[in-house]
Amino acid sequence: MYTRFSFRLFSAFLIFGFFCVQSDILPAQVQFAAPSPARVRERILMDASWRFALGNAADQHKDFDFATNPFFFAKAGYGDGPASPKFDDRTWRVVDLPHDWAVELPFDSRGDGNHGSKAIGRNFPQNSVGWYRKSFTIPKEDQGRRIGIDFDGVYRDALVWVNGFYMGTEPSGYASVHYDISNYLNYGGSNEIAVRVNATLEEGWFYEGAGIYRHVWLTKTSPIHVAHDGTFVSSTVTDPTADHPDAQVTARFTVQNDGEDDAYFTVVAQIEDAAGKVVGEANTTSSKATAAGGSNSSSVVIAVHDAKLWSLETPYLYKLMTTIEYDGKELDRYEISFGIRTIRFDSEHGFLLNGKHVEIQGTNDHQDHAGVGVALPDTLNAFRIERLKETGSNAIRTSHHPPTPEMLDACDRLGMLVLDESRQMGTTHTDSDQLRRMIERDRNHPSVILWSLGNEEWSLEWSVLGERITRELQAYAERLDPTRNFTVALSGSGEGISLSSEVLGFNYYLQHHIDEMHKRFPERPIIGTEESSSEHTRGVYFDDLPHQHLVAYDFEADGKHASLENGWRYYRARPYAAGLFYWTGFDYRGETTPFEWPAISSQFGILDTCGFFKDSAYLVQSWWTDKPMVHLLPHWNWPGKEGQHIEVRVYSNASAIELFLNGKSLGRKPMPRDSHLEWKVAYQPGKLLARGFDAAGKEIASDTVETTSAAAAVQLIPNSAKIEADGEAVSVITVRVNDAAGRMVPDAANQIVFTLTGPGKIIGVGNGDPASHEPDKVIDTVGEVAVAEWRSHAIDARTDGPETAIGFDDSSWERARDPRWDEQREDPAASVFRGTFKLADMAPDATSTLLLRAVGDSQSIYVNGHLLGKNLANDPAGYAYKLDRTLLRQDRNVVVIFSKRFASKADQLFHWNGPGPAAVQVVTPAPQWKRSVFNGLAQILVQSTAETGDIHLSAISAGLKPADVHIVSQ
Ligand code: GAL
Repeated sequence: MYTRFSFRLFSAFLIFGFFCVQSDILPAQVQFAAPSPARVRERILMDASWRFALGNAADQHKDFDFATNPFFFAKAGYGDGPASPKFDDRTWRVVDLPHDWAVELPFDSRGDGNHGSKAIGRNFPQNSVGWYRKSFTIPKEDQGRRIGIDFDGVYRDALVWVNGFYMGTEPSGYASVHYDISNYLNYGGSNEIAVRVNATLEEGWFYEGAGIYRHVWLTKTSPIHVAHDGTFVSSTVTDPTADHPDAQVTARFTVQNDGEDDAYFTVVAQIEDAAGKVVGEANTTSSKATAAGGSNSSSVVIAVHDAKLWSLETPYLYKLMTTIEYDGKELDRYEISFGIRTIRFDSEHGFLLNGKHVEIQGTNDHQDHAGVGVALPDTLNAFRIERLKETGSNAIRTSHHPPTPEMLDACDRLGMLVLDESRQMGTTHTDSDQLRRMIERDRNHPSVILWSLGNEEWSLEWSVLGERITRELQAYAERLDPTRNFTVALSGSGEGISLSSEVLGFNYYLQHHIDEMHKRFPERPIIGTEESSSEHTRGVYFDDLPHQHLVAYDFEADGKHASLENGWRYYRARPYAAGLFYWTGFDYRGETTPFEWPAISSQFGILDTCGFFKDSAYLVQSWWTDKPMVHLLPHWNWPGKEGQHIEVRVYSNASAIELFLNGKSLGRKPMPRDSHLEWKVAYQPGKLLARGFDAAGKEIASDTVETTSAAAAVQLIPNSAKIEADGEAVSVITVRVNDAAGRMVPDAANQIVFTLTGPGKIIGVGNGDPASHEPDKVIDTVGEVAVAEWRSHAIDARTDGPETAIGFDDSSWERARDPRWDEQREDPAASVFRGTFKLADMAPDATSTLLLRAVGDSQSIYVNGHLLGKNLANDPAGYAYKLDRTLLRQDRNVVVIFSKRFASKADQLFHWNGPGPAAVQVVTPAPQWKRSVFNGLAQILVQSTAETGDIHLSAISAGLKPADVHIVSQ
């Protein structure tokens, strides 16, 4: 199965291909040997320290000359430009994943409004291709293991190379992809991954970001191992409502034999409870050998007595350990977490979890967040789930694509149901393969209760084609997961897809005849996959169209869409339906309905892009939670409106509400169920108080809005004062502007400037204003200036002569060039090279560094006549010199290298005909982090570095008392 390496061929390859890789990364013969138990499987996070630079979608030269070598795709291992392992990326920026470069770009009216009007896409070829490169070391002892690389998600069209060998392309920005790279690695040395990401085209109609915005993992296993996403665990529970239920857990596994010999092995499956105690075990030995290069699937059933069921209140997780044993040795140990629970969509009783009815109180959500775009650290994903849970929401629809797997981990852990949606509906190989990968990846998550095969597929919805495709796709998907149902979110029903969709998913009840559909298809469960689409701006109580701000009262949005309240009441009145998913939980960038530019964000959320509650979040909370709450709106700062009637609303789960203005009762009213209360109150400054009472007349909650005085102080409130020092965790910090009495000033718009010291970094700022064009990120600008126009001249011995002078006349010298492939050329024993560069617009605080590759076996390097390095031996890593500003000129700078030729021409790691041996990196430091509060609030995200210590964040604003906060990174 491993191709034997032919030396003759390899020699031809060497002679023909100047760009070929080093011989030590050629395939090695794999000797089958059992690894030590500690090393049976490793999963290594590859987020840190990637090199990143923008290429170009329209100009190959600006795309680092990628795809200009005639054999770049013709021959294996001929990846060129940044895809070549020899490419010098030292001038590029260093970034950590997850990374979204779109969020770093400015807003531009020529950008796509649906995508958040960033300067990316067809009109911006210079911003639409991003290159990522990373070096990593693979120890010699790994030889013989299977090594794979997993991309959780890259937006989009990601071409991947390892050591110049092309691994493949994943066009979708939402699909996870796995490449087995074992044969292409340099064992005992350094390896290079290169990824070219092209975000020119779009997949959705909302902000989608750009780049490697999810994690990358390196996985190492034995040749015999559990296949990628190769376990599937499901359970049945005899009586889920019993106090001590008995469960039968079925574990299915596919074992891949990538060894050289056919093999017998035993698979042991163990279930561990949350305390790590083994509560069930079974094993299976295949009766016939699994062929080398083949796989084997088997399953076991394990009884778990007194099972702790996964539920929304107690999201209990077990672990399934799958161990592969061969000849008494452990070859693989693969661990997944899972939950024991039962789910059922019923056509009369809606959704049942563990045999009990659960009303789906869901939201649709895209994946972007203020400050970071789509590149969300795991803790931020968890933060978003927690915010939704605070509203009483119990379900998320991952519209309109598979989520990042860590988001599902958070849902499993925190108790949130998921309607997991695939990207584009279809039975083509591309579509169905993406669906397969989603299901195989996500089917062990107890949070996932339903799969969505598509959303508003307008060209299929009404047609026989849609009916057919749905039927076939469901049958296909059911083979991958027979334990869950499938739905398609429909904008129209009655024909087409709705005739075959297993669970009828309705987007907007006003667009359907749901009762009629229920009568027509009484056996089909029903769910509101989208509802309401009402638009509100946080803290806004009068439409302000010039600023693209819309009132936050829950009015009817338009004739087509229901208010949140009507949507909820509609589904509440229909017990046969499982519930609804509001459009949306969070605001998201793009889809700026009803505005166009300069609006940049949607306003459908019950939370804004930062996760701050709009009034509508309290509205749903009043229906969806039992903990007594009262929410009063609007704010009470209405100077100039004295005596005028202001619409006051109260959202509450109390039985009755009494409203007081400046101590005077304005009446007590019973609180209607699944609704709200309204008063018209003649404005006078002071204090408006709503007191909530239970059925017995006891006060159980209250809320106050008070007229504030002027903004006086900044306040910083972290969601967690401690974060893990893992380089990933974030603290989400609320920035508030208060008056002297500590009350948030509801219309404050002060700009706040932030400074951070200690082992942390700011990764983004936001304020939830759907029209704000303030940057979410400030970053160092890292530019590259080519050292070009290289000329060379033979010298007798290597002596540094007058050629170092800027004004030296080198016009009679030859242009430095590589020999043609058929040219038998011997370079002179010693040469002097001169190249030039310009630094026209360097900012006063910018720094520059000259980065060179060796041009011979020894060299002396000068810039503008100044000696930087003398008699340097050939260092394959190259040389770097920070350039003193006083040494530099704006118009023309000259690099001079005296050198002895390479003993071996293969030591030359650059092309004279290409990017050359040197470039200057120019770094302009990022401006200070700042952001205005919007209606009193902003958010700042602080991420740990991998070090421990005290992170100190301070916030200042002109005329306001500053604020400080300490976060411990531990
Ligand atoms: C739906 C669509 C959503 C979103 C929403 C806005 O039709 O499925 O993605 O566009 O409309 O109202």
